Amino acid sequence: MKALVLSGGSGTRLRPFTHTSPKQLVPVANKPVLYYVLEAIAESGITEVGIVVGDTAAEIREAVGDGSRFGLDVTYLPQAAPLGLAHAVLIAREFLGDDDFVMYLGDNFVVGGISSLVEEFAQSRPDAQILLTRVPDPTAFGVAELDDSGRVVGLEEKPAKPKSDLALVGIYLFTPAVHEAVRSIVPSDRGELEITHALQWLIDHGRDVRSTTISGYWKDTGNVADMLEVNRSVLEGIEPATEGTVDAATELIGRVRIEAGAEVRGSRIVGPAVIGPGTVITGSYVGPYTSIAENCRIEDSEIEFSIVLRDSHLDGVRRVQASLIGRNVTVTPAPRVPAGNRLILGDHSKVQILT
Ligand code: DAU
Repeated sequence: MKALVLSGGSGTRLRPFTHTSPKQLVPVANKPVLYYVLEAIAESGITEVGIVVGDTAAEIREAVGDGSRFGLDVTYLPQAAPLGLAHAVLIAREFLGDDDFVMYLGDNFVVGGISSLVEEFAQSRPDAQILLTRVPDPTAFGVAELDDSGRVVGLEEKPAKPKSDLALVGIYLFTPAVHEAVRSIVPSDRGELEITHALQWLIDHGRDVRSTTISGYWKDTGNVADMLEVNRSVLEGIEPATEGTVDAATELIGRVRIEAGAEVRGSRIVGPAVIGPGTVITGSYVGPYTSIAENCRIEDSEIEFSIVLRDSHLDGVRRVQASLIGRNVTVTPAPRVPAGNRLILGDHSKVQILT
């Protein structure tokens, strides 16, 4: 069995962290979502992985390399334009050969891996197997309709009036039967060859399409609360470790991971929290559910339940909470009695200020 990971697409670039980097590299507990995908694939015993790349090929290649770090053998499959998930299967035809494969969207995150799923599929070999999860707003997803026995009878891509709240998760298992389906469908109204339509084609041609409903699913929809929540739930499971330097005046409480090359002085860190390599924290409080990426400086500040990306700097700021801070950001206190608020904010920023 092989794996096909989709990391192409141009992305809408409106999400908090995807102005400047691919959405598959959005970090959860200091690790790109794509790494969790590759780890789950490796854990399931699959070693041959094709990664579909587009505009952001250079960043994806830099992050993943030849895959050996994950125990994988990675082949990059350039897609000239993001023409749809089924189009990605079309261009991967030669790589996939006549093997069964798992298709995994590189911006999807599931809790608990895919090992049992892959094992079950290899044994029962339906033509295709999909994963579903209940979501509050199915209009942003592919949506499945099941009959009373739980069989998939219909699938729609981002329907205005969804027939159920069962969204398609971005993990699909296929036998080579899918190749005829992706060759037979036509582009959707949004101009893409939809994998949802290929699945519907299989159903319409009497093929066996099964589904499993899961919980513990996340994808970056640009929703800050969701992002903080997935970061929180992953941090709950981290192994505490101190690989960096922590001085005697510092107190570490609970599950705290200080990565190699990080330095903490005169601070209090209450886990679960992770501090990235090269980051320096002095005279500060870092509270639960906080991920601070590499090469940041946190000085004389307080932060909790937040995500800070690399190369950012907090100096003298009190109680930053439930916040997302991008790369290369500087946060400093405003003057005590401001005559007005002076703001230098990038496109699509959202800030709350005291008035
Ligand atoms: O995330 C689950 C959803 O993914 C499903 O519920 C939908 O049925 C499915 O169509 C898909 O919807 P999205 O509109 O969210 O897909 P998106 O365009 O964001 O692409 C998903 C991933 O695939 C993303 O990592 C980019 C990559 N991609 C996308 C396209 C269209 C490619 O590599 N090539 C492509 O041509």
